[in-house]
Amino acid sequence: MTDPVLLITGGSSGLGAATARMAARAGYRLVLTARHADRLTAFAGSFDTPVLTLPCDVGDWQQISGVVEQAEAHFGRLDAVFANAGSSVGTSFLGRGGDDPELWRDMVVTNVCGPAYTARAALPVLTRFQGHLVLTGSASGRGVRPGSLYSATKWAVSGMAQAIRAECVGTGVRVTIIQPGLTDTDAIPSDRRDDPKLAPDDVARAVLYALAQPSTVDVNEIVIRPVGQDPYK
Ligand SMILES: NC(=O)c1ccc[n+]([C@@H]2O[C@H](COP(=O)([O-])OP(=O)(O)OC[C@H]3O[C@@H](n4cnc5c(N)ncnc54)[C@H](OP(=O)(O)O)[C@@H]3O)[C@@H](O)[C@H]2O)c1
Repeated sequence: MTDPVLLITGGSSGLGAATARMAARAGYRLVLTARHADRLTAFAGSFDTPVLTLPCDVGDWQQISGVVEQAEAHFGRLDAVFANAGSSVGTSFLGRGGDDPELWRDMVVTNVCGPAYTARAALPVLTRFQGHLVLTGSASGRGVRPGSLYSATKWAVSGMAQAIRAECVGTGVRVTIIQPGLTDTDAIPSDRRDDPKLAPDDVARAVLYALAQPSTVDVNEIVIRPVGQDPYK
């Protein structure tokens, strides 16, 4: 079978789930991963196309590298990887609210080590298939957000995408970072529920646009915000 294969981390909800649905309609076979197997299995059951679910924590190198190995072994190829899993907690360096600093580590590991480990696991395979790595950054990874360590993790993803693209010169691998503004998923904080929001499908269309370009075209960055979003939020 020649249909392309796309692996999505954080593929059970929000942006990852919307991208999975749109990619399936575009003819991709899917490998979906997230930590909670029950949600992953329930979501995968809604597809008519082949979907392999492999639960994993992207902050664990052994787990994500095992997922990439199993994905290629199962489908015989891997054409694109969407390093999308991420999480957020509230932070204040002045201690004016926000979550307990004990909770900060998991977010940093998921948002920084997660895409880094995903890239490290996937790129040797993507190099063999002239493939495409797409990373989910954030509009908050381009501007200052007072007190936000989440924003700093997304600045790390912005830099990481450039570092990966620079190292991939000559391999034929394409590297795209999608930087969405506020998007209507389970992840947004309650105090921003009434702010202008993108729909998950708006971000999925951007991912599919990048994936659909000719193999000679590398869409480097896509910044996408809802109309009316405050640039400092
Ligand atoms: N929503 C926004 O406004 C917005 C804006 C810009 C960027 N983003 C970014 O978009 C990405 C997706 O977020 P979302 O809004 O779609 O959130 P979401 O609906 O909460 O989805 C997050 C997905 O990531 C998975 N996940 C979380 N931690 C993980 C880990 N350590 N290992 C593996 N999977 C993990 C979750 O499943 P499990 O819990 O089962 O693991 C879930 O599938 C994140 O990188 C986020 O930072 C979101």
